Amino acid sequence: MSAQSPRRGQWGSQIGFILAAAGSAVGLGNIWRFPYMAGQNGGGAFVLVYLVCVLVIALPVMFLEISLGRATHRNPVGAIKAVAPRSLWRLLGYLALLTGLGILSYYSVIAGKVLTYCALYVRKLVLGEGIVYSGATVEVVIYFALFLILTVLVVSGGVQRGIERWTKILMPLLVVIMGAIIVRSLLLPGAMAGVKWFVTPDFSKITPRVILNAMSQGFFSLSLGMGAMLTYGSYLSRKDSIVTCGTSVVLFDTVIAILAGFMIFPAVFALGGDPAAGSTLIFQVLPKVFGGMEGGAVVGIVFFFLLCVAALTSTVSLLEVVTAYFVDERRWSRRRSVWTIGAAAFIVGLPSAFDLAGITPWTSITILGKHGFLEAMDFLWGNLSLAIGSLLLCVFAIAVWGLKNAASEIEIGSPGFVRFRAVWIFFIRWICPALIGVILVSKLVS
Ligand code: PFF
Repeated sequence: MSAQSPRRGQWGSQIGFILAAAGSAVGLGNIWRFPYMAGQNGGGAFVLVYLVCVLVIALPVMFLEISLGRATHRNPVGAIKAVAPRSLWRLLGYLALLTGLGILSYYSVIAGKVLTYCALYVRKLVLGEGIVYSGATVEVVIYFALFLILTVLVVSGGVQRGIERWTKILMPLLVVIMGAIIVRSLLLPGAMAGVKWFVTPDFSKITPRVILNAMSQGFFSLSLGMGAMLTYGSYLSRKDSIVTCGTSVVLFDTVIAILAGFMIFPAVFALGGDPAAGSTLIFQVLPKVFGGMEGGAVVGIVFFFLLCVAALTSTVSLLEVVTAYFVDERRWSRRRSVWTIGAAAFIVGLPSAFDLAGITPWTSITILGKHGFLEAMDFLWGNLSLAIGSLLLCVFAIAVWGLKNAASEIEIGSPGFVRFRAVWIFFIRWICPALIGVILVSKLVS
């Protein structure tokens, strides 16, 4: 089961995996989605529920996903087939692929908007133009396409050359620039109100909706529930520690999300913005912060550039999951796979792009209680599908693969895990599926 085909790559080192997996995890989910979710779901209350969900649900699921990947050395469909040949469980693998394509489609539209801001700041610096986001349809579609092409080019370079190299240099840089923006944000008069709002949980604000959103945000932010960590884990060697890798990724990702909160909310309160503004929050707030800053245009360029890179390392993982399937199972070449899937993501993403551009049929649509096509896609794939995928993965591990097998796989390379083995099994058997199930049902019936 663990024999690797020569066509498959492997990480250069354990740190290579950590960086790539952290690259997948850290992205628009932390810097664009986390603040707007927190803003709409009660601030400090959301942050608290989020941290609990990450620790209690996401961390155990993270170990499970990576271990299934490493045990089978396959993509999501192949991994399930390797454990349970000819069973209907492979549908879970296909769900993962669909979810990957679904998220890739609208995520690249938002990433395209980030790229547009990058270009706007370059123009400001070079030509002295003001920062005005036109949102014209052609512009939105071109930047969306451009971003997808960038993703395709990186993934076509293969696991190691393409993915590992990028993250190593640019992720630490992102943290540094965020640190600088936080300092600036905190120095604005009135900023402390934002800090207080972000760190003080108001328990009366915790509703089933807040809990569902926080849990789903955890899966989204950590790239769980659609086989991204499984696929990255499949390139990991038995010498490496799943516990170290998984924990580092969770820690890193959570720190970045919290930092994003400290970057945005002090400024929102100081500059008189609305924390519940929704998906446009960072695009409304940050230009104001940069506008009042010495050398703001340069900071704007660097920040939006690094955010593009963070988004790119995430879209790369989304595309990599689907690509690994076509390369492993269908014997397609990497090139053919990436361009075909990229084209499919473009077509599926066009309505989201039209929505962002404000074209009425798409913005006035209401699906699943969500307004606009993009938000509906985000809810369907980014919220529901990841939670369902994670739940089914737990059930699959309990009923088919066997939690003992999973735990033993984790133990290889992490001998210290023996002490937590029983606790981990208890969580995956009872706590995680029960909580995900209850939260999902309570949201769907409400
Ligand atoms: N985790 C990414 C982010 O926070 O931006 C988004 C994402 C990537 C979700 C890969 C799911 C995934 F499989």
